[in-house]
Amino acid sequence: EMDADERTFQQRLDDGIKIEPKDWMPEGYRKTLIRQISQHAHSEIVGQLPEANWITRAPTLERKAILLAKVQDEAGHGLYLYCAAETLGVSRDELLEQLHSGKAKYSSIFNYPTLNWADVGMIGWLVDGAAIMNQVPLQRCSYGPYSRAMIRICKEESFHQRQGYDALVKMCREGTPEQKEMAQDSINRWWWPALMMFGPSDADSVHSAQSMAWKIKINSNDELRQKFVDQTVPQAEYLGLTIPDPDLKWNEEKGGYDFGAIDWAEFYEVIKGNGPCNRERLAARVKAWDDGAWYREGLLAHARKKQAARAA
Ligand code: 3HC
Repeated sequence: EMDADERTFQQRLDDGIKIEPKDWMPEGYRKTLIRQISQHAHSEIVGQLPEANWITRAPTLERKAILLAKVQDEAGHGLYLYCAAETLGVSRDELLEQLHSGKAKYSSIFNYPTLNWADVGMIGWLVDGAAIMNQVPLQRCSYGPYSRAMIRICKEESFHQRQGYDALVKMCREGTPEQKEMAQDSINRWWWPALMMFGPSDADSVHSAQSMAWKIKINSNDELRQKFVDQTVPQAEYLGLTIPDPDLKWNEEKGGYDFGAIDWAEFYEVIKGNGPCNRERLAARVKAWDDGAWYREGLLAHARKKQAARAA
């Protein structure tokens, strides 16, 4: 049962009015946003690691420059999102402690290894493609700072997807048979984990109903997953790649593809911390945090000195 404040709040959401940091909001709304925005930010930061592995191994200077720009963009996306989370009254140190201690999640997809150069194209095309599908609706979410961060992020994501697809066109349509095989090996490893990015099925999603009532989640997990499959299958055909799903079949009356069952046991194992690279990813983030301590202390000491000088 809603009290008067909650009814007024819900009415504002239903009227499409954005909620800003200083507005009253139910504690649950604040907590959900802190959870989702911080895990989104963690995903951006951890998401740099699989690609970083290939910056020194890129096949040409141009591909190296493109990959550097993409990884840099993701660092920026993480910072916008941590700033958006901070408007809800939580500190960045607190959020990073949750990541480093394994308490907070980040997108399951980043716990898979990048084994060959085609994986870099696959991450751009499939992973950023799925991320765009999931992030475009978030531009319209009810919380102002999150919505505005997403508008900026979505502009840069489309470049990420294009560069990934372009690299795969080079390998699959203009490359050698070995390069085509490398891309096929890559989609065999990335297709199903990309579908898992959208989260559990709607029936198993614990947050969807409330997140949709609060206009944080605009489309359901399954809806976006279906849209992603429908958009991506023709692109895979253009590349001449076979999607590793024998049940994938066009369904005329639904106007979309039917596809096979997702291995949810794998999904829950990965988000529990038992994926192929979870320990390695977390260790890399903790090491970066520890290695940067001296630098943070220097900045803080300098800020304190300047503050003291101003106060004097
Ligand atoms: N990876 C890790 N955890 C996931 C997940 C995934 N792919 N999908 C769902 N989960 C978690 C949820 O966080 C939740 O756990 P929690 O309560 O501990 O947070 C649990 O599984 C139940 O799932 P729900 O569907 O009920 O949870 P949500 O309503 O939060 O929906 C979501 C999950 C669709 C991922 C939603 O949180 C969301 O839209 N988040 C913002 C966007 C985002 O994070 N996208 C993935 C990152 S892609 C990216 O970083 C961009 C790339 O360019 C680097």
